[in-house]
Amino acid sequence: MHLRRHKSLIGLDIGTSAIKAVELTWQGSGPVITGFGHAALPSPDATLETLQRLLREGGFHTRRVATSVSGKAVIVRYLTMMRMTPDDLRNAIHYEVDKYIPFDVEDVVMDCQPFEAGGLGDLATNEMRVLLVACKRAVIDEQLRILALAGLSPEVVDVDVFALGNAFETAVRRPAEAGARVSALVDVGASKTCVNLVRAGASLFTREIHNGGEACTNAIAVRLGLKRGEAEALKVRPGEDYERLRQAVAGAVDDLATEVRLSFEYFENQFDLGIDEVLLSGGGARLAGLDQDFSRAFQRPTLPWDPTGDLPIAAGSVDVEALREHVADMAIAVGLAARGNRSRSA
Ligand SMILES: Nc1ncnc2c1ncn2[C@@H]1O[C@H](COP(=O)(O)OP(=O)(O)OP(=O)(O)O)[C@@H](O)[C@H]1O
Ligand SMILES: [Mg+2]
Repeated sequence: MHLRRHKSLIGLDIGTSAIKAVELTWQGSGPVITGFGHAALPSPDATLETLQRLLREGGFHTRRVATSVSGKAVIVRYLTMMRMTPDDLRNAIHYEVDKYIPFDVEDVVMDCQPFEAGGLGDLATNEMRVLLVACKRAVIDEQLRILALAGLSPEVVDVDVFALGNAFETAVRRPAEAGARVSALVDVGASKTCVNLVRAGASLFTREIHNGGEACTNAIAVRLGLKRGEAEALKVRPGEDYERLRQAVAGAVDDLATEVRLSFEYFENQFDLGIDEVLLSGGGARLAGLDQDFSRAFQRPTLPWDPTGDLPIAAGSVDVEALREHVADMAIAVGLAARGNRSRSA
């Protein structure tokens, strides 16, 4: 029998507009959703208070969390380097890091690892691909300070765009014959959009675009002469104002689609590989008509996906209706919680 002392982990996604949390508990047959919370974040100052309320109400069983960072304080680089041991790699990166990141090395927390990208691109036999991630220390310290004040115990600090890929791997099990498909995961948040291109369970390419649902709210406010709160309400529930909404956001949606498409084109040219489908998540992707606009812009199947997949839900401790309503927003939180599965064999 496989005995684990800690069986539950909360994936905690503190976004710019909402905090999302999913607790997964590993039982005999695999992970079960045993806790869930979603709370709008009126301003960054309200993070601690909002988090504390979410934790009281979410039916969680543990204080252990996996959380993530994102935004301009995080740098992700894919490098090609000579093959070397992990220790040598760390040394080499340390001495050359100012070539790759625009921050002072003293001000960042860094991690690097060899990156298996499923045989992508041309590599000489003595070369390897390396993933380098750096985050401003102050950003991580502030996040850890809030978690400590909320009585949480952080186990993992990840990056949003990688958590997105991990959610897909956890929730979506593809038949073997579909393994060669390249899926573009596109998670539209309030202030940014994560793009992660995956094939056969491996991430091939990631990018964060600094544009999201907030730009649509701003466009509605400016074009229709509304206050921010009114514009947000119209965006989320347009009702009879559907056509006015569509006109007001057309330019903002077009800008975002163009930025995402440029990432796709870069990837396809660089690696001579096509993207088969686009899978949408994030609160911003719930914008009425966005999936149609994106599918026209990308010229390939573009659909929302369910990051909770076929994971069982413990109805006794989870507000299933609220989870269903927010399911599109939960991808990153699911991917973070899934980091608790260290005994995964496949
Ligand atoms: N029904 C809806 N229609 C349109 N937009 C929506 C809807 N529901 C939520 N949104 C938008 O989704 C965004 C919030 O999504 P999400 O929680 O994924 O972002 P976030 O994590 O807070 O932001 P970020 O990741 O950029 O920091 C907001 O811009 C919000 O207005
Ligand atoms: Mg987010």
